[in-house]
Amino acid sequence: MDTILSWLFSSEEQELYILNCMAYLMNFMAAFTFVSLFFHKVPYGRYASSKYGFPVNVKFAWFVQELPSLLLPLCLVFWTSSSKTSLLPNQLLIAMFLCHYVQRALIFPFLIRGGKATPFLSFALAFVFCIYNGYMQVRYLSHYAEYPADWVTSPRFITGSALWLVGWLMNLHSDHILRNLRKPGETGYKIPRGGMFEYVSGANFLGEITEWAGFALAGHSAHSSAFSIFTAVVLANRAVAHHKWYLAKFEDYPKSRKALIPFLF
Ligand SMILES: NC(=O)c1ccc[n+]([C@@H]2O[C@H](COP(=O)([O-])OP(=O)(O)OC[C@H]3O[C@@H](n4cnc5c(N)ncnc54)[C@H](OP(=O)(O)O)[C@@H]3O)[C@@H](O)[C@H]2O)c1
Repeated sequence: MDTILSWLFSSEEQELYILNCMAYLMNFMAAFTFVSLFFHKVPYGRYASSKYGFPVNVKFAWFVQELPSLLLPLCLVFWTSSSKTSLLPNQLLIAMFLCHYVQRALIFPFLIRGGKATPFLSFALAFVFCIYNGYMQVRYLSHYAEYPADWVTSPRFITGSALWLVGWLMNLHSDHILRNLRKPGETGYKIPRGGMFEYVSGANFLGEITEWAGFALAGHSAHSSAFSIFTAVVLANRAVAHHKWYLAKFEDYPKSRKALIPFLF
């Protein structure tokens, strides 16, 4: 892995410069995505369409597309001379990222019930995104990020980590509720009930947005902030689209339920 990195970059300064550029480019991609989502829905799940390529089996798609966000960080941590992995703040932030992707790549895909096949373009874009983001987050944390000695006891880190945990648990619980709406073999849609779904249609998305916002607060970097912004743009759009879809499909859909932010939006 070190050989590959030294072949790609002539110096550490150059690699850090590229990592910073990647974070700014992700912000640009978030802005571009924000505008383009006024004209298209994120094309997978209930909005899947053959316009975006041939269908890929949904479990295979989630497993393969998310795997780089787990494997690449593991390689960077264990197979490179990463100078910052012995430091507690860096270790905790890397652990948050890995914890999410162990579940997302190795567990979540195999629990899906009756999910729609993923169009190839969505699958390919998610795969490339996971390579890009997995490298950007964990290379920065494992080799470059420097935090003050008391960072893990600072209010910013404690609040961010707590938000990360609350968001992750909300995301897991909400995905669990959704999956249990279907009996094995069913593929239709029902009204989700319980947990944060009592307040918002996009409870799983609110959980994931909260999780990465907490990670960004605790990580205090352009890299973690860019990921948090990108996630919020994609998932807020999905929450609003799902909310409108539910209101149109179910006459008895709870009228007090909001799209993404309880009581507000
Ligand atoms: N960080 C990021 O940028 C990012 C991006 C995308 C997704 N994610 C995360 O990945 C996870 C899955 O995302 P998603 O967009 O696929 O979520 P989703 O649209 O809510 O669907 C999740 C699963 O539940 C099923 N489902 C949804 N609503 C249902 C209902 N009312 N009745 C029965 N089944 C229902 C879906 O089946 P169908 O496939 O048949 O619709 C799918 O299998 C979420 O936790 C999300 O936060 C993260």
